Amino acid sequence: MRALGSEDSQLETKNTAVLPPGPAGLPVVGNLLQFRRDPLAFVSGVQRSFGRVATMRMARLPIVMFFRPEHVRYFLVEQARNFTSSQFNINLRRLLGDGLLTTDGEFHRQQRRLIQPAFHKRRVEGYAGIMVQHTQEMLDAWQPGERLDMAQAMRDLTLRIVAKSLFDVDIQQNHPELGASFTNVIENPVQSPFSVRALPINLPFTPYGKHMQGKRTLDAYVYALIEERRASGRDTGDVLSMLLAAREDDVTMTDQQVRDQTMTLFAAGHETTANALTWTFYLLSEHPAVREKLLAELHTVLASRAPTVDDLPQLPYLDWVISESMRLYPPAWTQGRCAIEPFELEGYHFPAKTVVMFSQWVIHRLPDIWGDPDTFRPERWDPAHAQKVPPGAYFPFGAGPRMCIGMPFAQLEARLLLATILQRYAPRLAPGYPVVPRPRVTLRPKYGIQMMLEPTIARAPAIAASA
Ligand code: HEM
Repeated sequence: MRALGSEDSQLETKNTAVLPPGPAGLPVVGNLLQFRRDPLAFVSGVQRSFGRVATMRMARLPIVMFFRPEHVRYFLVEQARNFTSSQFNINLRRLLGDGLLTTDGEFHRQQRRLIQPAFHKRRVEGYAGIMVQHTQEMLDAWQPGERLDMAQAMRDLTLRIVAKSLFDVDIQQNHPELGASFTNVIENPVQSPFSVRALPINLPFTPYGKHMQGKRTLDAYVYALIEERRASGRDTGDVLSMLLAAREDDVTMTDQQVRDQTMTLFAAGHETTANALTWTFYLLSEHPAVREKLLAELHTVLASRAPTVDDLPQLPYLDWVISESMRLYPPAWTQGRCAIEPFELEGYHFPAKTVVMFSQWVIHRLPDIWGDPDTFRPERWDPAHAQKVPPGAYFPFGAGPRMCIGMPFAQLEARLLLATILQRYAPRLAPGYPVVPRPRVTLRPKYGIQMMLEPTIARAPAIAASA
């Protein structure tokens, strides 16, 4: 254990706490620059050097990084009530307001109860038709041999699907600018624990200006949507109607509250799934044997027809490919919490307000758990000879009471979209194209992923039989 120096820690000066040791940093900024330069390499390196736990300093804010599956269980499941999401979500909160992702305590629990019915299995399965139909429309516009940015294509598609499924609107036709607005807000954080606060210079080319422009566009769209639905009195049975009809002690939700939940579902409901699909296409392109096996399974079960919910139990390999892709490239690459009360862990006493972080990127690649962590091997998810994955070691959707509410939606969507697209095209990475993961709120490819659309040749029965 190491006593902290006197100059570098807000928590330490307030609480005289002894925090676990961590990587050396610079005066004033601490580890901020190292982290900003390459967050994935930095957190992985810290884990390799310090093992189970380490403290990094984002300027004056110490963040304690925990690296073991049992820690994930502790923060997200066993002691979930002692930890809030607030500190980690400062930037998101500017866009999402008091939505499900960015609130805590009783308010969060009440809102979650309200929204939960929209994500029940039966309800979600009812969206399968929209998912497949929108994908087919996208495919009809694609040309064999065409080169495109798969990341962009998947973002456009998943945004369209979430808008139609949850809010009954077609945004492709009327509002193609919304996707770019989300990107502007996410790529230009105004304030987060990992960045220097953006200067509030509101010009079209400054980060602050881009953030504000994106937010204005999104706000205008969502408020207009609410106003139109309230005015029409239409109940379409979708999430927006549910929110507008919600009542507690005879009080209905204000426009601002409906806006915050709507914006949260729009944002959380497309970007993550788009990233999961993009990374999966990339991995399949890099691993032809896996791609062939998957194409053979699709051919055997579907024989070129569109997939339905009932087909999914017959497509286990599809499922393993997606699970393995989200292990190596988790769309939510890290999570954080802030302690309400002091807590004890790993032999340390942590004061109230300690900020903790645990990263899917690191824990999904711990060698003592995964054996060959860097290998893309979907077979590791085969229940017949699955390796034992300890609780908390794999958590792409989080865990506990705040586990992703959209998980059933995302899992259905990822499988249906992948199956539908792969039956027509087996996209290949454009030769020499640089693929660099860029961890922001989600794990995106920094330069997108340019892929060539190679038509899927019908699988010969012999190949299918050998799968
Ligand atoms: C592959 C796709 C997805 C991934 C990897 C993912 C991941 C996550 C994770 C890790 C959390 C927990 C955050 C935390 O505990 O701090 C979360 C929460 C959440 N997700 Fe997802 N998500 C995905 C898709 C979706 C979809 C499709 C929707 C909605 C349609 C959605 C809506 C939400 C919401 C509203 C929360 C906040 C839940 C709460 O705090 O009660 N997500 N997601």
